[in-house]
Amino acid sequence: MMQGARQLMKVYVTRRIPPEGMKVLTEAGVCKVSVWDSDEPVPRAELLEGVSGAHGLLCLLSDRIDTDTDQHHYRRRSAGYRPNLKVISTLSVGFDHLAINEIKKRGVRVGYTPDVLTDATAELTVALLLATARRLPEGVQEVKSGGWSTWKPLWLCGYGLTGSTVGVIGLGRIGLAIARRLKPFGVKRLLYSGRAAKPQAAEVEGEYVPLDTLVSESDFVVVSCSLTPDTQGLCDKAFFSKMKSTAVFINTSRGSVVNQEDLYEALSSGQIAAAGLDVTTPEPLPTDHPLLTLKNCVVLPHIGSATYSTRGIMGVLSANNLLAGLQGAAMPSELAL
Ligand code: NDP
Ligand code: DGY
Repeated sequence: MMQGARQLMKVYVTRRIPPEGMKVLTEAGVCKVSVWDSDEPVPRAELLEGVSGAHGLLCLLSDRIDTDTDQHHYRRRSAGYRPNLKVISTLSVGFDHLAINEIKKRGVRVGYTPDVLTDATAELTVALLLATARRLPEGVQEVKSGGWSTWKPLWLCGYGLTGSTVGVIGLGRIGLAIARRLKPFGVKRLLYSGRAAKPQAAEVEGEYVPLDTLVSESDFVVVSCSLTPDTQGLCDKAFFSKMKSTAVFINTSRGSVVNQEDLYEALSSGQIAAAGLDVTTPEPLPTDHPLLTLKNCVVLPHIGSATYSTRGIMGVLSANNLLAGLQGAAMPSELAL
């Protein structure tokens, strides 16, 4: 991009992002960067104002870059619709917060952050699974509250992975990385479901099965699919009713894949043993939410990719995606629209 006489392009960043990423953006010399300089979400009106006239938008998964359902309304209000906009770069691999069809129609390119967060997210999923199945938060709480009176043979027992059947819903990048990590714990069968069988499943001796089979035969059901119209509300009353009463449910994909009322019912009635969620609807989950009253439900604040290095790399990748998009160059990670 030539500088000097030419005006710098405008970029709007919707949150304080990892400094490594901001450095890449500000030092590139191709754009003028405005930032919502806060750790809290940008108010909707600020977002619309910020993106107004911008050539590039760097956003987060908590920013709705949407079509409001009504098309006319969308034209006037949507953050994604501005004549200048060339590129949207999201600091996430998930892109369910973006109105992809509208964005595509307008010829706006989209960058995202696949692969670089796969290991961190898979690691967190394993940690959540073990914490839930072996009741770690409950144990920690008992120690702190004086509930630990002595060693008791039947106290705080949970479920182990050795000899178990694990079912992974969505054997994508993260699903496969989870399976790879779980197998060495002595998992006997690794089932997976999705839209099609995956050749890479051979590495974890994965068996492609119908969803019903996965749900009814697994001791651990792990959800790692993307949120789409097909997966929205996938884990509902009928789903939980097919699970074993000793089974543990884990979700690190998106909250909306789960019907939380049905999950509450399944957990409180003993239909299933326990659940670990890194993602909820809404986020944050209100502190008076019924799920938070249950000892057999472990809820984390969407920290799958939260390691210092991963977030730094995500920041740099999202900045480089944005810069490439502004300059009409190949992005390091462009979403195929
Ligand atoms: P991938 O695209 O590699 O994997 C998504 C998987 O979902 C694919 O295997 C896809 O199957 C599968 N899928 C799509 N539709 C269905 C369906 N109807 N039933 C079952 N499976 C389906 O993405 P990643 O693995 O990189 O990321 C997955 C998701 O994890 C992200 O979209 C995001 O929502 C979430 N995530 C959460 C994080 C956290 O902090 N908790 C961190 C990072 C990601 P197919 O290949 O057949 O299309
Ligand atoms: C994503 O990238 O989609 C996660 O939810 C956060 O890293």
